[in-house]
Amino acid sequence: MKISIVGLYCDFNDPHLIEMGISNIESILKFAPQESEIIIITNDASEKFVEKLNELSSIEKAIIVSTNRNLGNNAKNIGYEIAQGEYVFSIDHDVMIRNGRAFTKCVDFLDLHKKTAMVGPAGGNLSLPRWSDTQWGVGAWDKEKNIFGYDDPADFDGKEELDGTRVDTISGMFSCWRKKVLREIGLLDWSLVFQHSDSDLCFRAKEAGYDIRIVRVPVSHVNKGACSHGKINNLQKINEDSVRTIYERWHSKSHIFENYSPQETSPHFTGSGYELPRQNIRDLCKHISPIKKMVEIGSFAGASTIVFAEYAEEVITVDPYIGGYDSNDELSEERKLRIAERIFEKTTKNFTNIRQIKNLSVEAAFLFAEKSLDFIYLDGCHTYDCVYNDIKAWLSKTTNFFGGHDWNRNGVRRAVREILGEPMFFFEDGSWLFDLRRRCYLI
Ligand SMILES: C[S@@+](CC[C@H](N)C(=O)[O-])C[C@H]1O[C@@H](n2cnc3c(N)ncnc32)[C@H](O)[C@@H]1O
Repeated sequence: MKISIVGLYCDFNDPHLIEMGISNIESILKFAPQESEIIIITNDASEKFVEKLNELSSIEKAIIVSTNRNLGNNAKNIGYEIAQGEYVFSIDHDVMIRNGRAFTKCVDFLDLHKKTAMVGPAGGNLSLPRWSDTQWGVGAWDKEKNIFGYDDPADFDGKEELDGTRVDTISGMFSCWRKKVLREIGLLDWSLVFQHSDSDLCFRAKEAGYDIRIVRVPVSHVNKGACSHGKINNLQKINEDSVRTIYERWHSKSHIFENYSPQETSPHFTGSGYELPRQNIRDLCKHISPIKKMVEIGSFAGASTIVFAEYAEEVITVDPYIGGYDSNDELSEERKLRIAERIFEKTTKNFTNIRQIKNLSVEAAFLFAEKSLDFIYLDGCHTYDCVYNDIKAWLSKTTNFFGGHDWNRNGVRRAVREILGEPMFFFEDGSWLFDLRRRCYLI
């Protein structure tokens, strides 16, 4: 079998959602290529929904699987598991298929590009983790019906050059997976919610050597999804936990982001989206705010920098992006730093209060007058010698706060203790902090 189509529905007994889900299924039944396998997963569907479903002509073509509680976005796993097709489409209930090309286009593309694990439609990007270059949702605003989507159809209708663009992830709503890849890498991770499990699956596919691409396909997104968002308690916390997990799992694996050049990505890239889960840095900043002028030594991809930039009037980053400074630190690989530098540019480009100095920490220190900074955060090279020299070079530049990262590293602890003594504050992520206003040090 060539094609399986998995549709995901939940309705919360809401007439609007019921109508939308049923229209979506009608559009699938109408445009699915002959011989496709159609699998409809109803997530805790109401009787009304089931009634309407059974009234649909040609519904007998579909396999219907009903769950008795809402399993959220990951209920797609049931369909992925049982799908027999070489290609498995996943369609959320708030997407309308506009014509049969929605299917054939993806299939043709995957037939031609054997290293592509998944394709999805070009459209606006969605909830983009800042350290990732692109994450795409589904696009298209159906103007006739005046239903809201992420982007105007003009953004992809007629823009052939978007066809085949590699992206980091495509989240939910409409996608077509190569089943062979799902067998190889496994299915959606049940511990992640919303679009994060989709992203995670994409990253896993990329790690296995495949790519993820966008194609121009005629689908509309109504943007009234409910399966993953409705009736979940503690929504924000669950979401944050997933963001954190994704971050911990993938952020440092920069090799999975390097398969395409930034020029290939669409101009729609905005850099907006979730904040990174740097709660500890936030806590630290709150502890010492207001901060006027600060320096961060070692900025890497800018994940911590943008959090500092929320709290400080001016953030100056010092990082030469030169690899090989510490054989015990995998981030010091030249290749990773090249990517980090690129991501730093994108991550920070909308922040007018961030200034970058590309230089070694000890050299950049000469550019600053004594006592000219409120706060210095050390997260560069973590060997004893480096940290020792950094503290010596920078300590006199502030009389307020001096801190850093990686207290778990011997070199850091030894150098800090030798010059400054025991830090006054610790944070869960390994950050340490001195309030220099309260103590005096001999240097
Ligand atoms: C651990 S990463 C920084 C992580 C970043 N602060 C964050 O939280 O996302 C270390 C960074 O320090 C930089 N670095 C290494 N040696 C340095 C030095 N002598 N001066 C300044 N930066 C340095 C590296 O280029 C690398 O980007």
